[in-house]
Order: sequence, then C-alpha cells, then structure tokens
Amino acid sequence: MALVTTTEMFKKAYAGGYAIGAFNVNNMEIVQAITEAAGELNSPIILQVSAGARKYANHTYLVKLVEAALIENPNIPIALHLDHGADFEICKSCIDGGFTSVMIDGSKYAFQDNIELTKKVVEYAHAHGVVVEAELGKLAGIEDDVKVSAEDSSYTQPDEVEEFVTKTGVDSLAIAIGTSHGAYKFKPGTKPQLRFDILHEIEKRIPEFPIVLHGASSVPQEYVKIINENGGHLKDAIGVPEDQLREAARSAVCKINIDSDLRLGLTAGVREVLFKDPSIFDPRDYLKVGRANVKAVVAHKIRDVLGSEGKA
Ligand code: G3H
Ligand code: 13P
Ligand code: ZN
Repeated sequence: MALVTTTEMFKKAYAGGYAIGAFNVNNMEIVQAITEAAGELNSPIILQVSAGARKYANHTYLVKLVEAALIENPNIPIALHLDHGADFEICKSCIDGGFTSVMIDGSKYAFQDNIELTKKVVEYAHAHGVVVEAELGKLAGIEDDVKVSAEDSSYTQPDEVEEFVTKTGVDSLAIAIGTSHGAYKFKPGTKPQLRFDILHEIEKRIPEFPIVLHGASSVPQEYVKIINENGGHLKDAIGVPEDQLREAARSAVCKINIDSDLRLGLTAGVREVLFKDPSIFDPRDYLKVGRANVKAVVAHKIRDVLGSEGKA
C-alpha cells in the first residue's frame, strides 16, 4: 500500500466516533515504534514531521524511513504529514517531496491573512493530491523554539470557523480549546479542563468537518518518575487527562497530536539504562528500551484513548 491522505481516515473516524493518532517522528526508532504498535493493533496512523525534525534528520531520511515502515506494515493506512508548516515554501517542499498531508499554521497571523495564506497552500496542495490542515486560535507552549505564553494564547472563536473553512477550502481544522504544546500544560494544583463548550459550538457551525487537537499529550507520570529517579529533573510536568481526550475523540475531533509523551517514554528508557549501568556505551542497549517505551505509549493511546484499534 502507498502512503494515503487523511480523507478516508477522517471520514471513517468521524462516523465511528474515534480519532486517528498523529505522532511526531524524528528518527528510526520512533518510526519503528509507532508503526509496529499500529500494525499490531490494526490501526490507521498519521506520522508527522515538524520543521525541527526535518532540520535534525533530513527530509529524505525521514521520507525513506516512513516508506520502509510502509513495507514492513503493508496492512495499515499510513499518512505522512507536515506538522506546523510556517509558510508556503515549506508546505510546497513537502508536497513536492512525497508528503500526503501538510499543515499550514497561520494562527500567528490576523484572520484575513491566515485565510489568504491557507488558501494559497490549499490550491497548490489540492492540485497535487495532497490534503491541508490549518489552525484557528492560538495554543500556548513551545514548537520549534517559538514560545507562545499562556497570556498570548487564545481559544478558537466559533464565529470565525465557517467563513474560514468556506473561504480556504481546507480539509481539516486545528482548534484551541485549552490544550498546549510541551510537558507543562497546566499549573500544579489546578484542574485541567478542556473547553468542550467551544468544541461543540464549532461542531454546530461546521457539521461533519474534521477537527484536530494539537498539544494532546497526557504526560504519563510513570515516565516523569523514572526520568526524575534516574538523574533527570522535570518539575510539575502535567498533561491533558486521557478521559477528556477520549471524550474529544468521540466528537468531531478526528486527529489527535502527540509528541511529548513519546519524548518522555524514550527519555525514560534511555535514562534508566544509562543511569543504572554507567558502563553501557552501545546505543542499541539504551535505544531499544526507549523504543519499547514509545511503542507501549502508542499502543495504549490507540487502544484506550483514540479508539482506533481494528479500524485499518
Ligand atoms: O508541535 C510541536 C511538536 O511537538 C514538534 O516539536 O518543533 O520541537 O519538533 P518540534
Ligand atoms: P504535545 O506537545 O502535547 O505532544 O503536542 C504535540 C503536537 O501538537 C504536535 O503538533
Ligand atoms: Zn502542534
């Protein structure tokens, strides 16, 4: 099977009340872990690549790793997606370079400018058989070293979504309802709560349209503990409660983005091995433990959070 777009995946996910996991890939171990988990659970999957990942691992290496995963897992639909494309050029480069889906993230621009930019990407992408995700509203947190403070973040305004979707022709829409990027999403002592009222209002304005949730890591405390017990220092790392993500997956949310949880799993495995046995210096000895953790995280998400097990 070749790489697919997300069109069919989202249609089925919307109708079936589940979501597709979009996991960030940066190296071979992460690609293997995600696709092995998805393959074993017969789940469709989105592998997404950020600008930082392209800078780290190189576009061609990432595409070829994903193609290898496709050969190893021929029975599941896999989409290759650009995460947080900042401008037309990076989207074009990924469209020309084998991706089946791109995100143009114009959320930092004024509404009309976001529309113009998104529309330009949609025209190019659709002419090449590629689908497009855009964003309205602003998430707090860090991506590619750009930090958006909690004060500068803003929820998506339901009043804007219909005009945005109609004028741009975009295929899916990322919204801001209280999630944020990174491992420090909520203040300690506060109760994390996503704004389901905004989500439901948006659903009413654009029925049957696939919604995307970024910043959806749950920050597993078992990995935070392992990291901290093995020389790490992550203080007050708090994520989105998984029951709220499950609730979102049952609604119009068809794509849920997870990166930080994979980083935590990988780092916990590597730290545990190296801290316990300082004589180890074969990368395979620690990377295989990190990779197994990433696989366990993805399997858990597919089975217990996204609901996409058996939907391939
Ligand atoms: O949304 C951000 C993703 O976690 C990607 O992070 O830009 O550091 O690769 P990155
Ligand atoms: P997390 O930092 O919550 O994993 O979010 C990842 C993300 O939104 C990638 O686009
Ligand atoms: Zn994101």
